[in-house]
Amino acid sequence: MKKFLLETNRLRIRKFSLSDAADLFEYLSLPETYLFEPGEPVDMEQAQAMCRERASGNNFFAVELITEHKMIGHLYFQQSQPLEFMTWELGYIFNPKYQGKGYCTEAVNKIIEYAFTVLNAHKVTAFCNPLNEASWRVLEKCGLNREGHFKEKAFFRKDALGNPLWHDCYAYGIIENDFQ
Ligand SMILES: CC(C)(COP(=O)(O)OP(=O)(O)OC[C@H]1O[C@@H](n2cnc3c(N)ncnc32)[C@H](O)[C@@H]1OP(=O)(O)O)[C@@H](O)C(=O)NCCC(=O)NCCS
Repeated sequence: MKKFLLETNRLRIRKFSLSDAADLFEYLSLPETYLFEPGEPVDMEQAQAMCRERASGNNFFAVELITEHKMIGHLYFQQSQPLEFMTWELGYIFNPKYQGKGYCTEAVNKIIEYAFTVLNAHKVTAFCNPLNEASWRVLEKCGLNREGHFKEKAFFRKDALGNPLWHDCYAYGIIENDFQ
């Protein structure tokens, strides 16, 4: 997937490069980014290491705003096991400075189209915390259906006493027959 490149009106979805580190740091260094995500704010050195790893892998894609030549977010897009199910899982994080402008929806729509028209996917799935309304709104705008609501499915953090902070999880999906 060396030459991976998708374009929409405003965005370029492409492989990560080492020069994306400053843009990645800009939003992965912010505590607010992790409200519904595992992990914690990174420093510049960690952002550089992530870019290096992502540039050589196939699971994360940079989303660049064409007019500014700036990476404003990224998509996670990985084929699930078993491979013969032809199912891909999707995720995303965008820079708060660029949120609320439809960029994530535009990028997700494009990668779903790519999944069904190029990869011959059978299904695309995504998971999110029900409290993360911005996330499931994106999924619904892109035609994914809410297929499940799992109670206390996982935890990313513990409280001061070491107790897990469980959260619920919505499962979303779209199958090839429902893709238009
Ligand atoms: C989820 C995320 C990627 C959305 O990015 P975005 O570029 O703002 O998405 P879009 O602009 O395409 O759409 C966002 C939608 O959510 C709505 N929205 C945004 N914040 C919201 C909030 N706090 N409550 C309810 N709706 C909200 C927007 O109005 C928009 O819906 P609309 O077009 O129907 O009005 C972004 O919020 C983000 O990066 N969050 C932090 C990381 C994260 O939680 N990732 C997902 C983990 S499952």
